[in-house]
Amino acid sequence: MDRRKFISTSAVAAAGAILSSVPGVAKAMSTTGNKGPKKRIALIGTGSRGTSMWGIDVIKDYSDYVEYVGLCDINPGRVEAAKKYMGATCKTFTDFETMMKEVKPDILIVTVMDSLHDKYIIRGMELGCDVISEKPMTTDEVKCQTILDAQKRTGKKLIVTFNYRYSPHRAKIWELIQKGEIGEITSVDFHWYLDTSHGADYFRRWHRKREFSGSLWLHKASHHFDLLNWWIDSEPEEVFAYGNLDFYGKNGKQRAVNCRSCNHKDTCDFYWDVNKNSYYKMLYTDNEQYDGYLRDGCVFKEDIDIFDKMGASIKYANGVQVSYSCVTYAPYEGYRIAFNGTKGKIDAWIEEKNPVYQSDYDEIMITHNFGKRDFVRVLKSEGHGGGDKLLHDHIFINNHEDPFRQSAGIRDGAFAILIGIAARKSCDSGKPIKIADLTDLKPMAKKA
Ligand SMILES: NC(=O)c1ccc[n+]([C@@H]2O[C@H](COP(=O)([O-])OP(=O)(O)OC[C@H]3O[C@@H](n4cnc5c(N)ncnc54)[C@H](O)[C@@H]3O)[C@@H](O)[C@H]2O)c1
Repeated sequence: MDRRKFISTSAVAAAGAILSSVPGVAKAMSTTGNKGPKKRIALIGTGSRGTSMWGIDVIKDYSDYVEYVGLCDINPGRVEAAKKYMGATCKTFTDFETMMKEVKPDILIVTVMDSLHDKYIIRGMELGCDVISEKPMTTDEVKCQTILDAQKRTGKKLIVTFNYRYSPHRAKIWELIQKGEIGEITSVDFHWYLDTSHGADYFRRWHRKREFSGSLWLHKASHHFDLLNWWIDSEPEEVFAYGNLDFYGKNGKQRAVNCRSCNHKDTCDFYWDVNKNSYYKMLYTDNEQYDGYLRDGCVFKEDIDIFDKMGASIKYANGVQVSYSCVTYAPYEGYRIAFNGTKGKIDAWIEEKNPVYQSDYDEIMITHNFGKRDFVRVLKSEGHGGGDKLLHDHIFINNHEDPFRQSAGIRDGAFAILIGIAARKSCDSGKPIKIADLTDLKPMAKKA
Protein backbone atom coordinates (compact mmCIF):
# COMPACT_ATOMS: atom_id res chain seq x y z
CA MET A 1 0.00 0.00 0.00
CA ASP A 2 1.40 3.39 -0.90
CA ARG A 3 2.37 5.45 2.15
CA ARG A 4 0.15 8.46 1.44
CA LYS A 5 -2.83 6.18 1.01
CA PHE A 6 -2.10 4.46 4.26
CA ILE A 7 -2.09 7.81 6.07
CA SER A 8 -5.25 9.06 4.46
CA THR A 9 -7.14 5.84 5.16
CA SER A 10 -5.87 5.12 8.66
CA ALA A 11 -5.61 8.56 10.14
CA VAL A 12 -9.09 9.84 9.43
CA ALA A 13 -10.48 8.53 12.69
CA ALA A 14 -7.36 9.57 14.53
CA ALA A 15 -7.39 13.09 13.18
CA GLY A 16 -10.36 14.33 15.18
CA ALA A 17 -9.12 12.66 18.34
CA ILE A 18 -5.65 14.04 17.91
CA LEU A 19 -6.79 17.56 17.15
CA SER A 20 -9.11 17.71 20.11
CA SER A 21 -6.34 16.30 22.29
CA VAL A 22 -4.48 19.61 22.10
CA PRO A 23 -6.55 21.19 24.90
CA GLY A 24 -4.30 24.17 25.57
CA VAL A 25 -4.57 25.22 21.96
CA ALA A 26 -8.34 25.12 21.81
CA LYS A 27 -8.60 26.89 25.15
CA ALA A 28 -6.09 29.56 24.23
CA MET A 29 -8.03 30.38 21.08
CA SER A 30 -11.32 30.81 22.89
CA THR A 31 -10.49 32.25 26.30
CA THR A 32 -11.41 35.82 27.18
CA GLY A 33 -9.29 35.93 30.35
CA ASN A 34 -9.62 38.47 33.16
CA LYS A 35 -9.49 41.95 31.77
CA GLY A 36 -8.36 44.19 34.65
CA PRO A 37 -6.89 47.64 33.94
CA LYS A 38 -5.31 48.01 30.50
CA LYS A 39 -1.50 47.73 30.45
CA ARG A 40 0.33 50.71 28.95
CA ILE A 41 2.78 49.49 26.32
CA ALA A 42 5.61 51.21 24.43
CA LEU A 43 7.71 49.83 21.58
CA ILE A 44 11.29 50.52 20.47
CA GLY A 45 12.12 49.58 16.86
CA THR A 46 9.25 50.20 14.43
CA GLY A 47 10.53 47.98 11.61
CA SER A 48 8.69 45.03 10.11
CA ARG A 49 8.40 42.91 13.28
CA GLY A 50 7.48 45.90 15.42
CA THR A 51 4.72 47.09 13.11
CA SER A 52 3.26 43.68 12.22
CA MET A 53 3.24 41.04 14.96
CA TRP A 54 3.70 43.62 17.77
CA GLY A 55 1.91 46.48 16.01
CA ILE A 56 -1.16 46.12 13.87
CA ASP A 57 -1.99 42.63 15.21
CA VAL A 58 -1.90 43.76 18.85
CA ILE A 59 -4.01 46.85 18.24
CA LYS A 60 -6.54 44.82 16.24
CA ASP A 61 -7.00 41.93 18.69
CA TYR A 62 -5.86 43.05 22.15
CA SER A 63 -7.06 46.64 22.59
CA ASP A 64 -9.29 45.48 25.47
CA TYR A 65 -6.15 44.45 27.37
CA VAL A 66 -3.37 46.84 26.34
CA GLU A 67 -2.94 50.33 24.89
CA TYR A 68 0.00 51.81 23.02
CA VAL A 69 1.36 54.91 24.78
CA GLY A 70 4.59 55.37 22.78
CA LEU A 71 6.44 54.28 19.64
CA CYS A 72 10.15 54.95 19.15
CA ASP A 73 12.66 54.49 16.33
CA ILE A 74 15.84 56.34 15.39
CA ASN A 75 14.38 56.78 11.88
CA PRO A 76 11.86 59.67 12.13
CA GLY A 77 10.19 58.81 8.83
CA ARG A 78 9.76 55.14 9.69
CA VAL A 79 8.26 55.77 13.11
CA GLU A 80 5.61 58.06 11.59
CA ALA A 81 4.85 55.57 8.80
CA ALA A 82 4.61 52.83 11.44
CA LYS A 83 2.12 54.78 13.54
CA LYS A 84 -0.10 55.32 10.51
CA TYR A 85 0.15 51.72 9.36
CA MET A 86 -0.63 50.37 12.84
CA GLY A 87 -3.54 52.74 13.35
CA ALA A 88 -1.98 53.86 16.66
CA THR A 89 -3.01 57.12 18.31
CA CYS A 90 -0.07 57.46 20.71
CA LYS A 91 2.88 59.86 20.54
CA THR A 92 6.02 58.97 18.52
CA PHE A 93 9.64 59.53 19.55
CA THR A 94 13.15 59.30 18.11
CA ASP A 95 14.77 59.38 21.56
CA PHE A 96 14.23 56.41 23.86
CA GLU A 97 14.92 58.14 27.19
CA THR A 98 12.49 60.95 26.34
CA MET A 99 9.77 58.43 25.49
CA MET A 100 10.26 56.44 28.67
CA LYS A 101 10.25 59.49 30.94
CA GLU A 102 7.26 61.04 29.24
CA VAL A 103 4.90 58.08 28.81
CA LYS A 104 6.02 55.77 31.68
CA PRO A 105 4.86 52.47 30.16
CA ASP A 106 4.15 49.29 32.18
CA ILE A 107 5.59 47.09 29.42
CA LEU A 108 8.36 47.81 26.91
CA ILE A 109 8.46 45.79 23.66
CA VAL A 110 11.95 45.52 22.13
CA THR A 111 12.03 44.97 18.35
CA VAL A 112 15.27 46.66 17.29
CA MET A 113 18.03 44.68 15.61
CA ASP A 114 19.47 41.86 17.70
CA SER A 115 22.74 43.48 18.81
CA LEU A 116 20.79 46.33 20.49
CA HIS A 117 18.34 44.20 22.49
CA ASP A 118 20.52 44.25 25.62
CA LYS A 119 20.66 48.04 25.73
CA TYR A 120 16.89 48.49 25.73
CA ILE A 121 16.02 45.40 27.80
CA ILE A 122 18.32 46.61 30.58
CA ARG A 123 17.30 50.26 30.46
CA GLY A 124 13.62 49.30 30.26
CA MET A 125 13.90 47.19 33.41
CA GLU A 126 15.88 49.92 35.17
CA LEU A 127 13.09 52.38 34.37
CA GLY A 128 10.52 50.09 36.01
CA CYS A 129 9.08 48.14 33.05
CA ASP A 130 8.49 44.48 32.43
CA VAL A 131 10.06 43.77 29.04
CA ILE A 132 8.97 41.70 26.06
CA SER A 133 11.95 41.13 23.77
CA GLU A 134 12.06 39.57 20.36
CA LYS A 135 14.46 36.68 20.01
CA PRO A 136 17.42 36.34 20.16
CA MET A 137 17.69 37.77 23.68
CA THR A 138 21.11 39.15 22.72
CA THR A 139 24.19 38.32 20.64
CA ASP A 140 27.09 37.47 22.95
CA GLU A 141 27.81 36.05 26.38
CA VAL A 142 28.94 39.34 27.95
CA LYS A 143 25.68 41.06 27.03
CA CYS A 144 23.79 37.97 28.17
CA GLN A 145 25.38 38.21 31.62
CA THR A 146 24.57 41.94 31.89
CA ILE A 147 20.91 41.17 31.13
CA LEU A 148 20.87 38.40 33.76
CA ASP A 149 22.43 40.79 36.30
CA ALA A 150 19.99 43.62 35.47
CA GLN A 151 17.02 41.31 35.87
CA LYS A 152 18.27 40.21 39.33
CA ARG A 153 18.97 43.81 40.33
CA THR A 154 15.61 45.21 39.22
CA GLY A 155 13.32 42.21 39.85
CA LYS A 156 11.46 42.97 36.62
CA LYS A 157 10.12 40.29 34.27
CA LEU A 158 11.58 39.52 30.85
CA ILE A 159 9.62 37.50 28.29
CA VAL A 160 11.48 36.30 25.19
CA THR A 161 9.03 35.75 22.37
CA PHE A 162 9.72 32.28 21.04
CA ASN A 163 6.68 32.04 18.78
CA TYR A 164 7.94 28.77 17.25
CA ARG A 165 6.95 26.92 20.46
CA TYR A 166 3.32 27.88 19.91
CA SER A 167 2.66 26.08 16.63
CA PRO A 168 0.07 23.32 17.31
CA HIS A 169 2.18 20.78 15.37
CA ARG A 170 5.20 21.42 17.62
CA ALA A 171 3.01 21.47 20.76
CA LYS A 172 1.70 18.04 19.74
CA ILE A 173 5.28 16.74 19.45
CA TRP A 174 5.98 18.12 22.94
CA GLU A 175 2.90 16.38 24.31
CA LEU A 176 3.80 13.02 22.70
CA ILE A 177 7.33 13.20 24.14
CA GLN A 178 6.09 14.19 27.61
CA LYS A 179 3.60 11.30 27.58
CA GLY A 180 6.51 8.89 27.09
CA GLU A 181 5.24 7.69 23.70
CA ILE A 182 8.79 6.64 22.68
CA GLY A 183 10.26 6.12 26.18
CA GLU A 184 13.29 8.18 27.19
CA ILE A 185 14.76 10.32 24.40
CA THR A 186 18.44 9.58 23.83
CA SER A 187 19.23 11.55 20.67
CA VAL A 188 17.70 14.00 18.18
CA ASP A 189 18.45 14.68 14.49
CA PHE A 190 17.29 18.19 13.50
CA HIS A 191 17.89 19.66 10.05
CA TRP A 192 16.55 23.02 8.90
CA TYR A 193 16.42 24.17 5.26
CA LEU A 194 16.05 27.86 4.34
CA ASP A 195 15.39 28.39 0.66
CA THR A 196 16.80 30.78 -1.92
CA SER A 197 14.03 33.27 -1.11
CA HIS A 198 13.71 33.36 2.71
CA GLY A 199 17.29 32.21 3.27
CA ALA A 200 18.67 34.76 0.81
CA ASP A 201 16.79 37.58 2.52
CA TYR A 202 19.05 37.33 5.59
CA PHE A 203 22.01 38.15 3.34
CA ARG A 204 20.31 41.31 2.00
CA ARG A 205 19.75 42.95 5.38
CA TRP A 206 21.64 43.92 8.59
CA HIS A 207 21.57 40.23 9.48
CA ARG A 208 24.50 39.67 7.07
CA LYS A 209 26.95 41.14 9.63
CA ARG A 210 27.94 39.37 12.83
CA GLU A 211 28.13 42.67 14.67
CA PHE A 212 24.36 43.18 14.21
CA SER A 213 22.87 39.66 14.23
CA GLY A 214 25.56 37.63 15.98
CA SER A 215 25.35 35.46 12.80
CA LEU A 216 22.51 33.06 11.96
CA TRP A 217 23.71 30.84 14.81
CA LEU A 218 21.96 33.46 16.96
CA HIS A 219 19.45 35.22 14.76
CA LYS A 220 17.89 32.13 13.20
CA ALA A 221 19.15 29.01 14.97
CA SER A 222 18.26 30.33 18.46
CA HIS A 223 14.62 29.62 17.49
CA HIS A 224 15.61 26.02 16.75
CA PHE A 225 17.74 25.69 19.88
CA ASP A 226 14.87 26.94 22.03
CA LEU A 227 12.60 24.29 20.49
CA LEU A 228 15.20 21.63 21.30
CA ASN A 229 15.59 22.82 24.91
CA TRP A 230 11.80 22.79 25.32
CA TRP A 231 11.20 19.40 23.68
CA ILE A 232 14.16 17.70 25.39
CA ASP A 233 13.22 19.38 28.70
CA SER A 234 16.85 19.83 29.66
CA GLU A 235 19.59 22.45 29.35
CA PRO A 236 22.61 22.28 26.99
CA GLU A 237 26.05 21.44 28.37
CA GLU A 238 28.51 21.39 25.47
CA VAL A 239 28.61 22.31 21.76
CA PHE A 240 30.96 21.49 18.90
CA ALA A 241 30.26 23.11 15.53
CA TYR A 242 31.41 23.81 12.00
CA GLY A 243 30.21 26.57 9.68
CA ASN A 244 31.23 28.24 6.44
CA LEU A 245 30.16 30.80 3.84
CA ASP A 246 29.93 28.73 0.64
CA PHE A 247 27.25 30.36 -1.47
CA TYR A 248 26.48 34.04 -0.75
CA GLY A 249 28.86 36.99 -0.19
CA LYS A 250 32.31 36.63 -1.74
CA ASN A 251 31.20 33.46 -3.57
CA GLY A 252 29.05 35.36 -6.10
CA LYS A 253 30.41 36.05 -9.59
CA GLN A 254 28.74 39.48 -9.87
CA ARG A 255 27.68 42.02 -7.31
CA ALA A 256 26.46 45.55 -6.57
CA VAL A 257 25.61 47.58 -3.46
CA ASN A 258 21.90 46.79 -3.79
CA CYS A 259 19.40 45.46 -6.31
CA ARG A 260 18.04 48.83 -7.42
CA SER A 261 21.50 50.11 -8.39
CA CYS A 262 22.64 46.83 -9.94
CA ASN A 263 23.91 46.39 -13.54
CA HIS A 264 23.17 42.66 -13.48
CA LYS A 265 19.41 42.79 -12.94
CA ASP A 266 18.72 40.69 -16.03
CA THR A 267 21.13 37.89 -15.19
CA CYS A 268 21.04 37.62 -11.38
CA ASP A 269 18.73 34.95 -9.91
CA PHE A 270 18.56 37.02 -6.74
CA TYR A 271 17.41 40.31 -8.30
CA TRP A 272 14.51 41.59 -6.19
CA ASP A 273 12.49 44.79 -6.60
CA VAL A 274 11.78 45.92 -3.05
CA ASN A 275 9.41 48.64 -4.27
CA LYS A 276 6.99 46.06 -5.67
CA ASN A 277 6.08 45.40 -2.03
CA SER A 278 4.11 48.47 -0.87
CA TYR A 279 4.65 47.64 2.83
CA TYR A 280 8.45 47.49 2.42
CA LYS A 281 8.38 50.64 0.32
CA MET A 282 6.42 52.47 3.01
CA LEU A 283 8.72 51.26 5.82
CA TYR A 284 12.16 51.23 4.20
CA THR A 285 12.72 52.83 0.80
CA ASP A 286 10.51 55.85 1.49
CA ASN A 287 12.66 56.53 4.59
CA GLU A 288 16.14 55.76 3.28
CA GLN A 289 17.08 59.43 3.34
CA TYR A 290 17.09 59.40 7.16
CA ASP A 291 19.44 56.48 7.84
CA GLY A 292 20.77 55.20 4.49
CA TYR A 293 19.56 51.67 5.28
CA LEU A 294 19.14 49.60 2.09
CA ARG A 295 16.55 46.84 2.51
CA ASP A 296 17.56 45.32 -0.86
CA GLY A 297 21.30 44.86 -0.24
CA CYS A 298 23.19 42.57 -2.63
CA VAL A 299 23.41 38.97 -1.36
CA PHE A 300 26.91 38.79 -2.88
CA LYS A 301 28.37 41.80 -1.04
CA GLU A 302 31.89 41.09 0.10
CA ASP A 303 31.28 42.43 3.62
CA ILE A 304 29.07 39.43 4.48
CA ASP A 305 30.77 37.72 7.42
CA ILE A 306 28.16 35.19 8.64
CA PHE A 307 27.95 31.48 7.83
CA ASP A 308 25.49 30.20 5.23
CA LYS A 309 25.85 26.52 6.21
CA MET A 310 26.11 25.38 9.81
CA GLY A 311 26.33 22.08 11.65
CA ALA A 312 26.59 21.34 15.38
CA SER A 313 26.69 18.52 17.90
CA ILE A 314 25.01 19.48 21.17
CA LYS A 315 25.20 17.49 24.41
CA TYR A 316 22.49 18.08 27.01
CA ALA A 317 22.82 17.84 30.79
CA ASN A 318 20.42 14.84 30.75
CA GLY A 319 22.68 12.98 28.29
CA VAL A 320 20.64 13.60 25.12
CA GLN A 321 22.81 14.21 22.03
CA VAL A 322 21.64 16.39 19.12
CA SER A 323 22.86 16.56 15.52
CA TYR A 324 21.75 19.93 14.13
CA SER A 325 22.27 21.53 10.73
CA CYS A 326 21.01 24.54 8.82
CA VAL A 327 21.55 25.51 5.19
CA THR A 328 20.39 28.83 3.70
CA TYR A 329 20.30 28.21 -0.07
CA ALA A 330 18.05 25.15 -0.36
CA PRO A 331 15.57 24.75 -3.25
CA TYR A 332 12.73 24.35 -0.75
CA GLU A 333 12.00 25.58 2.77
CA GLY A 334 11.29 23.34 5.73
CA TYR A 335 12.80 20.97 8.26
CA ARG A 336 13.09 17.36 9.32
CA ILE A 337 13.36 16.16 12.89
CA ALA A 338 13.70 12.73 14.44
CA PHE A 339 13.56 11.94 18.16
CA ASN A 340 15.20 8.60 18.95
CA GLY A 341 13.89 7.03 22.16
CA THR A 342 14.27 3.83 24.16
CA LYS A 343 10.85 2.60 22.99
CA GLY A 344 10.64 4.03 19.48
CA LYS A 345 11.07 7.03 17.24
CA ILE A 346 9.10 10.18 16.40
CA ASP A 347 9.64 11.71 12.95
CA ALA A 348 8.23 15.03 11.78
CA TRP A 349 8.84 17.08 8.65
CA ILE A 350 7.55 20.34 7.28
CA GLU A 351 7.90 21.58 3.73
CA GLU A 352 6.48 25.07 3.27
CA LYS A 353 4.46 25.52 0.07
CA ASN A 354 5.08 21.97 -1.14
CA PRO A 355 4.36 22.10 -4.90
CA VAL A 356 3.47 18.39 -5.15
CA TYR A 357 1.49 17.48 -2.02
CA GLN A 358 -0.91 20.07 -0.64
CA SER A 359 -2.79 19.31 2.53
CA ASP A 360 -4.45 21.22 5.32
CA TYR A 361 -2.61 19.29 8.04
CA ASP A 362 0.94 18.49 9.16
CA GLU A 363 1.95 14.98 10.17
CA ILE A 364 3.90 13.30 12.93
CA MET A 365 5.02 9.68 12.52
CA ILE A 366 5.47 7.49 15.60
CA THR A 367 7.22 4.14 15.14
CA HIS A 368 7.23 1.82 18.15
CA ASN A 369 10.14 -0.62 18.63
CA PHE A 370 8.95 -4.13 17.63
CA GLY A 371 5.51 -2.61 17.11
CA LYS A 372 3.23 -0.59 14.91
CA ARG A 373 3.56 2.77 13.20
CA ASP A 374 1.04 5.57 13.84
CA PHE A 375 0.49 8.85 12.08
CA VAL A 376 -0.87 11.94 13.81
CA ARG A 377 -2.35 14.84 11.88
CA VAL A 378 -2.46 18.41 13.15
CA LEU A 379 -4.41 21.07 11.27
CA LYS A 380 -2.30 23.81 9.71
CA SER A 381 -2.98 27.42 10.71
CA GLU A 382 -1.79 30.90 9.73
CA GLY A 383 0.99 32.96 11.36
CA HIS A 384 3.94 30.67 12.16
CA GLY A 385 1.61 27.65 12.31
CA GLY A 386 -0.90 29.46 14.52
CA GLY A 387 1.87 30.25 16.97
CA ASP A 388 1.75 34.05 16.78
CA LYS A 389 -1.88 34.26 17.94
CA LEU A 390 -1.31 31.81 20.80
CA LEU A 391 1.80 33.65 21.92
CA HIS A 392 -0.16 36.91 22.02
CA ASP A 393 -2.93 35.26 24.03
CA HIS A 394 -0.41 34.02 26.57
CA ILE A 395 1.23 37.40 26.94
CA PHE A 396 -1.69 39.82 26.84
CA ILE A 397 -4.62 37.93 28.34
CA ASN A 398 -4.38 37.86 32.12
CA ASN A 399 -4.32 34.60 34.10
CA HIS A 400 -3.78 32.56 31.00
CA GLU A 401 -3.00 28.87 31.47
CA ASP A 402 0.22 27.38 30.08
CA PRO A 403 -0.41 23.61 29.74
CA PHE A 404 2.45 23.09 27.27
CA ARG A 405 4.94 25.27 29.18
CA GLN A 406 5.32 27.47 26.09
CA SER A 407 5.94 30.74 27.89
CA ALA A 408 9.68 31.56 27.77
CA GLY A 409 11.47 33.62 30.39
CA ILE A 410 14.98 34.94 30.82
CA ARG A 411 16.58 31.52 31.50
CA ASP A 412 15.00 30.06 28.33
CA GLY A 413 16.10 33.10 26.34
CA ALA A 414 19.63 32.70 27.68
CA PHE A 415 20.03 28.96 27.01
CA ALA A 416 18.74 29.33 23.43
CA ILE A 417 21.40 31.93 22.61
CA LEU A 418 24.14 30.25 24.62
CA ILE A 419 24.03 27.28 22.22
CA GLY A 420 24.40 29.70 19.28
CA ILE A 421 27.20 31.63 20.99
CA ALA A 422 29.00 28.37 21.82
CA ALA A 423 28.55 27.14 18.23
CA ARG A 424 29.97 30.38 16.81
CA LYS A 425 32.93 30.18 19.21
CA SER A 426 33.48 26.55 18.29
CA CYS A 427 33.51 27.38 14.54
CA ASP A 428 36.07 30.12 15.23
CA SER A 429 38.30 28.11 17.56
CA GLY A 430 37.86 24.53 16.29
CA LYS A 431 37.21 23.44 19.88
CA PRO A 432 34.18 22.19 21.84
CA ILE A 433 32.70 24.90 24.09
CA LYS A 434 31.22 24.32 27.53
CA ILE A 435 28.06 26.34 28.14
CA ALA A 436 28.86 26.74 31.85
CA ASP A 437 32.03 28.68 30.93
CA LEU A 438 30.03 31.43 29.19
CA THR A 439 27.90 32.97 31.98
CA ASP A 440 27.05 32.22 35.62
CA LEU A 441 24.15 29.95 34.53
CA LYS A 442 24.79 26.26 35.23
CA PRO A 443 22.88 23.82 32.98
CA MET A 444 20.35 21.60 34.76
CA ALA A 445 19.47 18.03 33.70
CA LYS A 446 15.75 18.89 33.94
CA LYS A 447 14.44 22.33 33.03
CA ALA A 448 13.01 24.23 35.99
N1 LIG B 1 10.19 35.78 16.12
C1 LIG B 1 10.26 35.92 14.82
O1 LIG B 1 9.79 35.06 14.09
C2 LIG B 1 10.93 37.17 14.24
C3 LIG B 1 10.73 37.49 12.89
C4 LIG B 1 11.34 38.64 12.40
C5 LIG B 1 12.14 39.43 13.22
N2 LIG B 1 12.32 39.08 14.52
C6 LIG B 1 13.15 39.92 15.42
O2 LIG B 1 12.59 41.22 15.50
C7 LIG B 1 13.62 42.20 15.64
C8 LIG B 1 13.44 43.28 14.57
O3 LIG B 1 13.58 42.68 13.28
P1 LIG B 1 12.95 43.36 11.98
O4 LIG B 1 12.91 42.33 10.94
O5 LIG B 1 11.71 44.07 12.36
O6 LIG B 1 14.09 44.42 11.63
P2 LIG B 1 13.90 45.85 10.95
O7 LIG B 1 15.22 46.21 10.38
O8 LIG B 1 12.71 45.85 10.07
O9 LIG B 1 13.56 46.81 12.19
C9 LIG B 1 14.48 47.24 13.13
C10 LIG B 1 14.14 48.67 13.50
O10 LIG B 1 15.02 49.10 14.54
C11 LIG B 1 15.36 50.45 14.28
N3 LIG B 1 16.59 50.79 14.98
C12 LIG B 1 17.84 50.48 14.63
N4 LIG B 1 18.71 51.00 15.53
C13 LIG B 1 17.97 51.63 16.48
C14 LIG B 1 18.27 52.31 17.67
N5 LIG B 1 19.54 52.48 18.09
N6 LIG B 1 17.26 52.79 18.41
C15 LIG B 1 15.98 52.62 18.00
N7 LIG B 1 15.63 51.98 16.87
C16 LIG B 1 16.62 51.48 16.12
C17 LIG B 1 15.48 50.54 12.78
O11 LIG B 1 15.38 51.89 12.34
C18 LIG B 1 14.32 49.67 12.34
O12 LIG B 1 13.14 50.42 12.18
C19 LIG B 1 14.93 41.46 15.54
O13 LIG B 1 15.44 41.23 16.82
C20 LIG B 1 14.57 40.14 14.90
O14 LIG B 1 15.42 39.10 15.31
C21 LIG B 1 11.70 37.98 15.04
